[in-house]
Amino acid sequence: MKLTILKETSPGETRVAATPESVKKLIGLGHSVTIESGAGTAAGFPDKAFSEEGATIAKTAATALKGADLLLKVRAPSAEEAGKYPEGLTVIALMNPFNMGDLTDAYNAKKLNTLAMEFTPRITRAQSMDALSSQSNLAGYRAMIEGAQIYGRAMPMMMTAAGTVAPAKVFVMGAGVAGLQAIATARRLGGVVTATDVRPAAKEQVASLGAKFIAVENEEFKEAETAGGYAKEMSDDYKKQQAELTANHIAKQDIVITTALIPGRPAPELVSEAMVKSMKPGSVIVDMAVASGGNCPLSKPDEVVDVDGVKVAGFSNLPARLPADSSSLYAKNLLAFLPLITAEDGALNLDTDDEIVTAMLLTRGGETVNERLKS
Ligand code: NAI
Repeated sequence: MKLTILKETSPGETRVAATPESVKKLIGLGHSVTIESGAGTAAGFPDKAFSEEGATIAKTAATALKGADLLLKVRAPSAEEAGKYPEGLTVIALMNPFNMGDLTDAYNAKKLNTLAMEFTPRITRAQSMDALSSQSNLAGYRAMIEGAQIYGRAMPMMMTAAGTVAPAKVFVMGAGVAGLQAIATARRLGGVVTATDVRPAAKEQVASLGAKFIAVENEEFKEAETAGGYAKEMSDDYKKQQAELTANHIAKQDIVITTALIPGRPAPELVSEAMVKSMKPGSVIVDMAVASGGNCPLSKPDEVVDVDGVKVAGFSNLPARLPADSSSLYAKNLLAFLPLITAEDGALNLDTDDEIVTAMLLTRGGETVNERLKS
């Protein structure tokens, strides 16, 4: 099939859906690859690196799309972009499926077949395709690096002739993929780390990284994990107990990284304004959930808000801050998924009963087909 990779158009998006390495593999599989000129530049992959692996470079998106069977993207196409695509094109991207609004109407008007990488089911067979995990992992690392950079002190304990520097106290709220990587990074940097989550499975994982687990471990906690591995939205009573438990703890922290998300729902509020104000000047909060409403009501996307000396940072797209690695892992996720929609002769085939493909398909032939979007 003919695969096309376009330059991302969302503001601040530096990632690209293919790397020279993935292009080499795609061509090795017998596909042809066309890259819009400049698509990889922001991620450190110039046109030449792609053409050396056999890709065709097209000057414009329109030229790149001519005769395309499959478009690989990082971000969901806008309605305007979709309007310029050839009818019936198949598109795979991080579609942000719970926040699409009426984008699906634009896709259906063009009879686009769209697949959301976020809906890759969390089953063993699909692990190598799980872009939410690959991107969250890097985002968690980067959030800790950003937090350390904003923090005006050192992270590790240092004993010097001039005196001792105390280690930074780091509290990670939400110990999923991103949170666990933030914990590991904080530990590598020498911080003293505590973490919380509502899922019991997180307790052991946090401990295995050398951090201390703090949580309200009642009956509701024991049942907070869904079959899909995600957290449920907690009751008001649980939230109250959680806030009481964490309020005192937060006041003593130097860096707080919040990562808590609930699929399809706004992010839970974990750090109230009063908690922010209880922290020492110079402390830092990095709200990784800012793009989903935020875990802290004071965070703003892509801003560092100063609240009486406490810095509240919100990064809406952390993977875009290390685009070479995030593009590389994302391209590998796509590469792992591709065989599921490839017929024996190498042609595109969406007519499959594969549960992974069914879970990811949003629109097809002019209709919204995904159950999770219909409900
Ligand atoms: P996520 O990004 O949806 O949420 C981040 C974290 O916030 C989660 O750990 C969640 O439990 C936590 N959280 C939600 N509400 C909270 C609250 N009120 N207070 C504190 N924490 C709260 O989740 P993520 O990181 O995508 O994954 C969650 C789980 O799924 C992890 O255990 C992960 O290991 C597992 N997983 C399994 C995979 C598989 O293939 N089997 C693949 C990827 C992840």
